[in-house]
Amino acid sequence: MIATESATAADVVRGDLAQMAAALRPELDLLAGKRLLVTGGAGFLGYYLVQLPLYHNEHGTPDRRIHVEVWDNYRRGVPAWLEVLQDRLTLRRHDVTEALPETMPRFDYVVHAAGIASPPFYRRYPLETIDANVGGLRALLDWAGRRADSGDPIDGLLYFSTSEIYGNPTPDAIPTPETYRGLVSCTGPRACYDESKRMGETLCVTFADRYGVPVRTARPFNNYGPGLKISDRRVLPDFARDVLAGRDIELLSDGAPTRTFCYVADAVVGYFKILTVGRSGEAYNIGVETPEISMADFADRVAETGRELFGYAGRVRRGTAQEAEYLTDNPMRRCPDISKARRELRYEPEVTLEDGLRRSLLWYAGNPVAEDA
Ligand SMILES: NC(=O)c1ccc[n+]([C@@H]2O[C@H](COP(=O)([O-])OP(=O)(O)OC[C@H]3O[C@@H](n4cnc5c(N)ncnc54)[C@H](O)[C@@H]3O)[C@@H](O)[C@H]2O)c1
Repeated sequence: MIATESATAADVVRGDLAQMAAALRPELDLLAGKRLLVTGGAGFLGYYLVQLPLYHNEHGTPDRRIHVEVWDNYRRGVPAWLEVLQDRLTLRRHDVTEALPETMPRFDYVVHAAGIASPPFYRRYPLETIDANVGGLRALLDWAGRRADSGDPIDGLLYFSTSEIYGNPTPDAIPTPETYRGLVSCTGPRACYDESKRMGETLCVTFADRYGVPVRTARPFNNYGPGLKISDRRVLPDFARDVLAGRDIELLSDGAPTRTFCYVADAVVGYFKILTVGRSGEAYNIGVETPEISMADFADRVAETGRELFGYAGRVRRGTAQEAEYLTDNPMRRCPDISKARRELRYEPEVTLEDGLRRSLLWYAGNPVAEDA
C-alpha cells in the first residue's frame, strides 16, 4: 500500500519496482549475467519489463547485471522514460516485420512484446498487426531454432498472446482456463488481432515440439497501470483523462460487459516467471480472478478514486464511440482461471483493484500528456 497524500508518480514507480523485485528474487537470479532482448520495449508492458532488470542491476553487484537491449520501431519517437535510461541499456531501432539484423547479438532470453495492442489502432492497421504477431515472431523462432540446432540453445523466449484468443467465451467457460479453445470470429474487425495471436501460439508449440525451442506464451487479461500512455485509447487511460480534465467520465458501451483488471506490476511478475520457469510450448493465463466487474462499476471506481485523491467532482455518463466498430465482437465477460500459473509458477497477484487504481491515477497525474499512440 502506498501513502496517497504525498505520493508522486515517481514514488509509485519506485514502490512497484521494489515490490516486483521482491516477488521475483529467484527468477532475477536466473536472469543475472544474461543478455535479455525486449522487442516492443518502448510500449506499456515494456515500461516495467525494461525498468525491472535495470532496477535489479542498480541494486546488485556488477557480475549480476542483466544486459538489456530494446528493439522497437519507435514510431512516435523514443519515449522520455526510455531516453533517460539510454546509458544503462542498448536501444536499437528495428521493425520486427523486417528481416532480423544480419549480426544477431548473443541473447539468452527474448521477450517478444512488439505489436499493435490497442483495439482502435489494430483495426486501423490490420496488416501491420498480423505481420508483427506472426512474421515478427517467426523470424525470432527461426533464429532460436538455429541456436538450438547449433547446440547453443537460448534459455527462453516469451511470446505475448492475449486473452482475446478466447473470443467471447460461453458462460460455462468463465473463469476461462487455458484448455478452453475459444469462440472467435476469423473475419470480424478484431480478427486481425485475435487470429494472428492464435497463429502465433501455433508457431510457438510447433517450434517447441519440433525444434526444441524453449518458447513460452503469456495470455494477459486486461492489464492497467503505469506505462499505459494516456493517449492509448484503452479504457483506463480514457477514464483517467476525463478525471484529470475534471469532466464527466464517458462510458462508450452500455456498461454491462465485465472484466477483471490486473495491475501491471503483478502482471509483469507473471511474465518474468513464464519467461524463466514456464514450460516450453505452454501458455499461461496472467491476470486476476476477482473482482469481475462491469465497465459501469469500473468507471464508478475510477471516479471514486479520483474524488479521494484529487477532489474530482465529475459523474459517469453514457457516450457513443466515434468508431462504428468499437463494440463489434466485444466479449461480454472476461475472467481468467489462473490456477495453472499459480501451481506451476507460484504466480500470486497482490495488488487490489482499489490500490491499483490509486497508484494508476497518481501516475497519470504525473504523466498527464503523451504523444499519440
Ligand atoms: N497490455 C495488455 O493488457 C495486453 C493484453 C493482451 C495482450 N497484450 C500483448 O502484449 C504485447 C505488448 O502490449 P503493450 O500493451 O505493451 O502494447 P503497446 O502498444 O503499449 O506497446 C507495443 C510496442 O511495440 C512497438 N511496435 C509495434 N509494432 C512494431 C513493429 N512492427 N516493430 C517493432 N516495434 C513495434 C510499439 O512501438 C510499442 O512500443 C502486445 O503483443 C500485446 O498484443 C497486452
